[in-house]
Amino acid sequence: MGKLKVAVGKLNFEFPGIVASGIMDETGDSMVRMFKSGAGAVVTKSIGSKPRPGHSNPTFTEVECGYVNAMGLPNPGIDMFEKEIKTASSEGPVIGSIFGGDEKEFAYLASRMEEFGAVAVELNLSCPHAAGYGAEIGSDPEMIVSVVSEVKSSVDIPVWAKLTPNTSSIQALGRAAEKGGADAVVAINTLKAMVICPELRKPVLSNKFGGLSGPGIKPVGVRAVYDLYSSLNIPVIGVGGITCWRDAAEYIMAGASAYQMGSAIGITGPEVFNEINEGLVSFMKEHGYETVKEMVGVAHE
Ligand SMILES: Cc1cc2nc3c(=O)[nH]c(=O)nc-3n(C[C@H](O)[C@H](O)[C@H](O)COP(=O)(O)O)c2cc1C
Repeated sequence: MGKLKVAVGKLNFEFPGIVASGIMDETGDSMVRMFKSGAGAVVTKSIGSKPRPGHSNPTFTEVECGYVNAMGLPNPGIDMFEKEIKTASSEGPVIGSIFGGDEKEFAYLASRMEEFGAVAVELNLSCPHAAGYGAEIGSDPEMIVSVVSEVKSSVDIPVWAKLTPNTSSIQALGRAAEKGGADAVVAINTLKAMVICPELRKPVLSNKFGGLSGPGIKPVGVRAVYDLYSSLNIPVIGVGGITCWRDAAEYIMAGASAYQMGSAIGITGPEVFNEINEGLVSFMKEHGYETVKEMVGVAHE
């Protein structure tokens, strides 16, 4: 398994698979379980300044090719999260995901995450269903530059910017993150989506629209990573629809230094990380790759 060690900038991970924000990462114990299942790192649920209940139910529904959710960023607030990060950090590297309404709030939350022991922060500039947050901030390149640079000047740990695919140019958003000083970009968050129940004649989710995740978005994510890799000089982390080692290999070959998984944890269970680790090692042996790094971006050659 030593073949699977990866570096994202100055951070080193034992395995290339990272738990994506929002799935099995709200408590220290659930994050520990993910490390025991072969995750190289865990990104926490996105945390804000104050406790937030999120949208009312229904907030989650299954579709043919994945899930549509509009959780509305429910979280216990940053003060309550210290103990969860401390528990999880004893088993592996934790990346603190945060969301704020402006630069100052992001910077404050990032410095708290650093104080708690997070090895990096991931800026949620991409949630599609929370008014005033996420993609509402992260769709404007100038705002991205401003948020990222404010956070960079407040912490010493690496800053990752998680981008939205709900835009005409994800490359422009990535370039803005790089200009602001981001250490890596993460692509993609969910695609804006809706499900309607014909019998009820109305949208299934209480928020009406939500974000599509799971296998259906994988080609969109792979394309986003491919484009970002060719236009940026900072590492790209791929996420969206990965459920097996072939999917992970696609993202790596498109240019991802590491990958994240969310929906697959719901589809297969936490053991999906170990299964993919084993699948990647066999593929690498068969095709003569000594390290994951040798595979990064090979689809561009
Ligand atoms: C139930 C659920 C909750 C999520 N919550 C967050 C969140 O709090 N912050 C965030 O940045 N992304 C969140 N996401 C998006 C995921 O991190 C990921 O970007 C997306 O689901 C695509 O990956 P996947 O297809 O592997 O699930 C959430 C996704 C799901 C399904």
